Amino acid sequence: MSVTTCTRRGFLGGLSALGALLARPVPGLAQERLPARAIPATGEMLPVVGLGSSKAVRLIPDAGTDSLATVLRMLVSYGGRVVDTTPYPEENERRFGELLQSPDLRDDLFITMKINTTDAQTGVQQVRQAQRLFGRRTFDVLQVMSLRGLNSHWPNLLDWKETGETRYVGVTVSNYEDYGVLESFISSETVDFLQVNYSVVETLAEDRIIPLAQDLGVAVIVNGPFMNGDYFGLVSGAELPDWVADFDCTSWAQFSLKYILAHPGVNCVLTETTNSQHMRENIESAFGRMPDDSERQRMRELILSL
Ligand SMILES: NC(=O)c1ccc[n+]([C@@H]2O[C@H](COP(=O)([O-])OP(=O)(O)OC[C@H]3O[C@@H](n4cnc5c(N)ncnc54)[C@H](OP(=O)(O)O)[C@@H]3O)[C@@H](O)[C@H]2O)c1
Repeated sequence: MSVTTCTRRGFLGGLSALGALLARPVPGLAQERLPARAIPATGEMLPVVGLGSSKAVRLIPDAGTDSLATVLRMLVSYGGRVVDTTPYPEENERRFGELLQSPDLRDDLFITMKINTTDAQTGVQQVRQAQRLFGRRTFDVLQVMSLRGLNSHWPNLLDWKETGETRYVGVTVSNYEDYGVLESFISSETVDFLQVNYSVVETLAEDRIIPLAQDLGVAVIVNGPFMNGDYFGLVSGAELPDWVADFDCTSWAQFSLKYILAHPGVNCVLTETTNSQHMRENIESAFGRMPDDSERQRMRELILSL
C-alpha cells in the first residue's frame, strides 16, 4: 500500500506495510527529513509532524520569541513545514509575524490559520490582521475553529479560496461533542482539511472521523496528541515497557505520536511545545518503524490499565 493513496479499506491490512514503508534508521542528524504524506485534494506532500503555536504565541509578551524561534527552526531543519496558528492580540501576532517572515523561514512554512469567533465580520478582521502581521496574502489553510460560527464563516472561506487568499479550506474540532456536526458538514460540503483530537488515549476519531475523511478525500491534521499535557499526568510514574523498542519508541511522548502516525489516514500531527528537546523528541517519533495493528492494540490496553 502506498502512503500517498490511503483508503479506509486499506487501513487494517495496510498497517504492517506502512510500518515497513516508513522503516528506516532512527536518525541522529538534524538533516534527516520528515516523511511526508499526500493531501488528498491535490497530491501535495505534507511533512507528518507540525507545530501547534498557541502556547508559544500566547506567552510572547512574557517570554519573547526566542524559544519559539528555536523550536520552529528545529522543525524546518528536519523538513517540517506545518505551523498551526490561532488569533491573538495584535502585539503577539506582530512579533510572531516578524519571526514567520524571517528570510530563512518564510518560504518554507505551511501556515494553517483559524478563525475563532462566531461573528462573520470579526472573522474577516482576524484574517485581515493575520495577513497584515504575518506579511502574507495567502494562507495555506483557513479553518473555522471548533465549528464556531461555521455557517457564517464558510461562505467567506470559499470566497478567499476563489481569490487566492487561501489554498485550502477546513474546519477543526477538539472535543467528541462536536463529532456529529463535523460528520454532517464534511459529508455535505467540499472540505480540504479537518483537524481533530486524536491520541492513544482519545481514540474515537479512528472509528468515526478519520475513516470518513479518507472516504471523502479530506486531509487530517491531528491536535491534542498529549491532550494539552494531561497525557503526561496519566503516564507519570509508569515505566515505559521494553517492547516499545520494537518500533523505535524511546519515550511516552513518542508512544502517543507513533500510535497516531501509524494511522495512514493522518496527514500531520501538531505538537505544541516551547521546548526544543521536546520538539526534537516529537519530530523523531516519525522515524524508525511504526507500530503494527497488534502492537497498537497492546498500546491501547496498556493505556487503559494505567
Ligand atoms: N479546536 C482547535 O482547533 C484546537 C484545539 C486544541 C489545540 N489545537 C491545535 O493543536 C495544537 C496542539 O495543542 P494541544 O492542546 O493539542 O497540545 P498537545 O500537543 O497535546 O500538548 C501540549 C503540551 O505537551 C507538552 N509537551 C509537548 N511535547 C512534549 C514532550 N516531548 N515531552 C513532554 N511534554 C511535552 C507541552 O509542554 P512543553 O512546552 O513544556 O513541551 C505542552 O504543555 C495547538 O497549538 C493548536 O494549534 C486546536
